[in-house]
Amino acid sequence: MTQTTKLFTPFTMGALTLPNRFAMAPMTRSRANNEGNVPTDSTVKYYEQRASAGLIITEGSQVSQQAVGYIFTPGIYSEEQVAGWKKVTDAVHAAGGRIFIQLWHVGRISHPFFHQGELPVAPSAVQPTGVKAFTLNGQEEIPTPRALETHEVKAVVEDFRKAAENAKKAGFDGAEIHGANGYLIDQFIQDGSNQRTDEYGGSVENRARFALEVVKAVSDVLGADRTGIRLSPTGVMGGINDTDRLGTFSYVVEQLNQFNLAYLHVIEALPGHPMAAQPGQEKVAPTLRKIFNGPFILNGGYTQETAEAALENNEADLIAFGVPFISNPDLVERFQQGAALNAPDQATFYGGDDKGYIDYPSLAEVEQATQDIVEK
Ligand SMILES: Cc1cc2nc3c(=O)[nH]c(=O)nc-3n(C[C@H](O)[C@H](O)[C@H](O)COP(=O)(O)O)c2cc1C
Repeated sequence: MTQTTKLFTPFTMGALTLPNRFAMAPMTRSRANNEGNVPTDSTVKYYEQRASAGLIITEGSQVSQQAVGYIFTPGIYSEEQVAGWKKVTDAVHAAGGRIFIQLWHVGRISHPFFHQGELPVAPSAVQPTGVKAFTLNGQEEIPTPRALETHEVKAVVEDFRKAAENAKKAGFDGAEIHGANGYLIDQFIQDGSNQRTDEYGGSVENRARFALEVVKAVSDVLGADRTGIRLSPTGVMGGINDTDRLGTFSYVVEQLNQFNLAYLHVIEALPGHPMAAQPGQEKVAPTLRKIFNGPFILNGGYTQETAEAALENNEADLIAFGVPFISNPDLVERFQQGAALNAPDQATFYGGDDKGYIDYPSLAEVEQATQDIVEK
């Protein structure tokens, strides 16, 4: 049976008109297993296979060498990386899709392995908790980072600007700024990781300054209608914390309203999901939805049913699906037809070869395989 519910209706978002309300959530797959961390031909295939999503948001892509925190993640700061991504955007566009790149700086979630023995950088020298670094030597302790000097903070803003210029050259339809999950922008926003006394720390106005300068820099290059930002107000990755999440994130989003961004993307998973609000933590997304003056994407543990309900209740304009898109390149068609989903293989989420990357079958391939068996 073909479904015609809200998930399958078009939506105008900034400069783009999307054919449906599905976003493919940004997901690190660690397949840029080469010296320059350049997207490979397999990456071209992977995104091309998922082009029926209303909007693809790529895996986090580092804006500089300083921004790296994991092995084999792609970057968007060298010419080779731009050329690699151009093949991806060309393939997605030829397949009728739209694609934003996620611009990423990990800040303190890194290791000297990636920085010629130097410490990773962060707003303040506050060690993350509960996470390990993955280097070529395996799992390693993450050390206490070094606080960025004020002039270095401004240099990171410029790295985001250059990355946005590169994203444009690479043919992306826009960029999502990774302000979520305990990485650099989130580290500046939340007071547990930001103990600075300069213009980037202290009051919420100062803690939001870095995020807003990055938004300004990226949207100056790409246009605000091709710039989105992702926030995770209730996330706890790396021990990220704030004494007033509701107040802090409400302020950040009030300030974002001045830009007329393409969208705000909020991760606030449904109860039971590892990314859900922790017991005793207040949900923040409903308040941010009310404050924000533009398109709103929600993510975190959604199924077809809960996504439809969230859209019907006007909790969001789009729903981003992560893991379901890993194992179902044609997730849109599968939901539309009420078809069964392929099960995800967690062992191949990060790193490895094409297995668990570009070999999940589409419905058409499943049907062909079934037909072949019947005919034998
Ligand atoms: C393998 C994997 C890699 C991820 N990498 C990123 C990333 O690069 N950037 C990001 O913002 N979130 C990342 N996430 C989080 C997802 O975007 C999403 O928030 C999460 O999977 C919850 O959505 P879901 O329940 O629909 O999968 C990742 C999640 C997974 C499973």
